[in-house]
Amino acid sequence: MYLDFLSKFGVSGAHPGGIKLTKQIFENERINKFSHILDVGCGTGQTSAYLAARYGAKVTGMDFNPIMVEKAKNRMTKYQLPVEIIQGSIEKCPLPDSKYDIIIAESVLSFVNKPRALKEIFRLLKYDGRLIANELTINRRLGSNYEEEIKQFYGLDSILMEKDWITLFEQVDFKNIKTFLRKQSILQNDSLPEFQYSEYIEPELYKIMQQHFNLMVKYQGTLDYRVFICTK
Ligand SMILES: C[S@@+](CC[C@H](N)C(=O)[O-])C[C@H]1O[C@@H](n2cnc3c(N)ncnc32)[C@H](O)[C@@H]1O
Repeated sequence: MYLDFLSKFGVSGAHPGGIKLTKQIFENERINKFSHILDVGCGTGQTSAYLAARYGAKVTGMDFNPIMVEKAKNRMTKYQLPVEIIQGSIEKCPLPDSKYDIIIAESVLSFVNKPRALKEIFRLLKYDGRLIANELTINRRLGSNYEEEIKQFYGLDSILMEKDWITLFEQVDFKNIKTFLRKQSILQNDSLPEFQYSEYIEPELYKIMQQHFNLMVKYQGTLDYRVFICTK
């Protein structure tokens, strides 16, 4: 239901730090018009559009959700950007081996089968290519009832601490795993999200939005995020 809320409201920059953090991260990457970038779980395509417009990079955005795919395609048409948008799952995706210099996953891996998705990402990256992932973390283990509440609401199969993410990256053979911890809490976001509303929005999705904010407040300080950068 949480992902339905995001897609029907067409929330862009639906990751901690929003597009502002995305821009900061990419300032430190070497990207140009020859770079192949895959934006996994691209949502409405805000990051994909930015990378194509700012760097002229060859960008593919992929999302599982058909509503997101349609909204991302609309964005590329509106801004006349040559970004390829495809529907697919990062757990098993229809793209060739060793194609991408960079794969970005902004608040996506938390929602999928993580080992399977990481294996796919590793396969899709060129040798020396980089995965950039901005993902939900928990700063300390909570009681199982509390963790269950978070997992059920967001539809997660697990909720990981920073060290658990690192273990997963290592298991897939990623190297040079770096973690960026930001001082800003998950609730602070100085990039205003944009919305692309669907014509019909089920009334219960408004409640989902409210519950999402309630959970963010309830678990403030515990529910957190990290940006991980690692190399194939
Ligand atoms: C929290 S949203 C983030 C969207 C976008 N990255 C952003 O920052 O605005 C998570 C996105 O992951 C997509 N997603 C979920 N499971 C996926 C999968 N198996 N493969 C690809 N995308 C998936 C959802 O449809 C949704 O668009």
